Formats: sequence, structure tokens, C-alpha cells
Amino acid sequence: MEIKTVGVLTSGGDAPGMNAAIRSVVRYGLSRGFKMVGVERGYHGLLRGEFIDLDASSVCDLIQRGGTVLQTARSKQFATPEGIAQAVEITKQKGIDAMVVIGGDGSFRGAQKLSESGLPTIGIPGTIDNDISCTEYTIGYDTALNTAMEAVDKVRDTATSHQRCSLIEVMGRNAGYIAIEVALATGAEMVLVPEKDRACPRVELVNRIVEDIKIGQAVGKKHHIVIIAEGVGGSQELAEMIEECTGVETRATVLGHIQRGGSPTIHDRVVAAQMGMKAIDLLAEGKSNRVVVIQNGQLGDMDINEGLAMKKTVSDFDYRLVGSLSRGVWNS
Ligand code: F6P
Repeated sequence: MEIKTVGVLTSGGDAPGMNAAIRSVVRYGLSRGFKMVGVERGYHGLLRGEFIDLDASSVCDLIQRGGTVLQTARSKQFATPEGIAQAVEITKQKGIDAMVVIGGDGSFRGAQKLSESGLPTIGIPGTIDNDISCTEYTIGYDTALNTAMEAVDKVRDTATSHQRCSLIEVMGRNAGYIAIEVALATGAEMVLVPEKDRACPRVELVNRIVEDIKIGQAVGKKHHIVIIAEGVGGSQELAEMIEECTGVETRATVLGHIQRGGSPTIHDRVVAAQMGMKAIDLLAEGKSNRVVVIQNGQLGDMDINEGLAMKKTVSDFDYRLVGSLSRGVWNS
């Protein structure tokens, strides 16, 4: 079937660089002769027919803005067979022949269903968590890392001034990518991630931190920074237990949604531009059910079903490097 009109939507958590991706999809799509339609509020808006026609000027002044101008949502209704059938029917009525979905794993499951139902759909990975297994990079990750890094640097000033232990919780859902990179970049004493530490009893975690504080104190450290991924959680409870065991003043700081907002870094803008263009090229080549990926540093694409079945995990080397560099002892 010849594609004349392409829809674009953002779904799941917003991520910095989504707007740059929308701009790329729209401008490059127009240049390939497609009519471009924006779907507002993700799959939720798709089910309600919330469409806007987009021309080149609709995406002016977007590249530097965080969030998503198309807005986003998480839709339970869409995930049902009735929801998918309704969505396909609505796109038919609007004359939309293909779709580009910018989001995370959950969004790609929706994209998979749309493709299976006959609507050619391409996914672009956009999430601060970098937790999509088939790609080395997801739009928004670099900006979130930089935001979290700057916030940790600030908390560290206070921790040092008061000789405190600071537990700083970063986002990442069930993944520890943000936590490990931020810990490395800020010289944190320790990092806790769900992949390695979620199953560990709290008391053991506390003992590890307490031992580490003692090692730090012995070499004259003035603070103790622990980066905790939200998938480990419980930072407040851990802080109270540590203070009780050590007598060292301990505070928990949850960085929260500041990590999702803000102007995208150059890396996120550039990757968004490249991925947007690739998504349109795939549709123009008659492809469907593909996700745009970065593998071995190269832009590529892969089958969404295969992509969703893949697994990736945090780097054991980087995880151990955090503590080793902080103690000055390589723990091989
Ligand atoms: O997926 C992005 C993310 O920010 C995760 O890191 C976090 O677990 C989740 O979204 C929070 O979602 P919400 O904004 O719906 O609370």
C-alpha cells in the first residue's frame, strides 16, 4: 500500500530530545512527500482522535525544548484488543497510512500491535532510562545524566561542608544505567542498582555502607555519597539505619522528575535528528514493525519483536569501578 500520510506520537514518560525527534520526523517526512499528522497525548489521544496537521513551521522553535509538544500519556485502554482495533479504525478514518512512535518498551508493544493490525509502524527509542535492550542509546538519557550529575555535585557541597553521608536516589525504573554513570561521573563512594542489589537484605546493604564509611573516615574523607537507583529504593529508611549505626548525620535526597525535564544536550538533539530521519526512511522503504537503534555506535534498525525479546544489563566493570576509584584500590 502506498503511504501518503504519516502520524507521529510520543508515548510513556517524556524525555528531553523528543521534540527534536518530532521535528526531524516531520520535516524529513514532508521532504519525502508525506503529509504529516501529529497525535496528541500518545495512544490515549489516538483513541480519541486527537490529531493535528503538521507542516514545517509547526515544528519551529522546538529543537531546544524539553518535554514533548505532542504531550504524552500512559493508556491502559489501548493495550486491549478492542483498543487496538479502535485505534486502527480511527487512523483509517483520518487517512493515516503509517505511524512513528517515540517512546520506551511499553510504547513499542503498542507499535508492535499496530503493525500486526496492518498499520505500518516504526519505533524510535525515547526514555531517560536507557533501558531498551536492542539499542545502546535512548533519546533523553544524556540530558538526564547531566541533570543528575549537576544535582549530585550540589548535594556534595553540602555533604562535605557538614561531613555527612548523602544517599541520592536517581531515576531509571528497574534499571541502574543512570545510577552507575552518575556515580562514576560524580566520584561517588558507592552505587546501588536493582540488577545487583535489589535482592540484598536491607541490613546487609546498611552494613556495606557502614563499612565503607569507616574506610572513608580512616583516609580523612569529609563526606560519603551513595547513589541509589530508584529500583533499589528505600533511601529514607536506609539513611535512618545508617545514621543509627554510625552516628554520622545521613540525609536522603530523591532527585525525581527534575531528571526528566530541561533542554536536551547536543547528543540528544543529534541522535534525535538522526533517528527521526531513519524512521521515515524505513517507512519509505515499505518497512513496518521496526525499531530504530544504535548498535556498535552505528544507526540501524531491527524487528520490534526481536528487539523486545532481547536482554541487556548494566556493566559489571563500571559498577565495580565506582567503589574501586573511590577507595583507590582496584577490586578485580
Ligand atoms: O521511564 C522514565 C521514568 O522517569 C522512570 O525513570 C520512572 O520510574 C518513571 O518514568 C516515573 O514515571 P511517572 O512520571 O509516571 O511517575
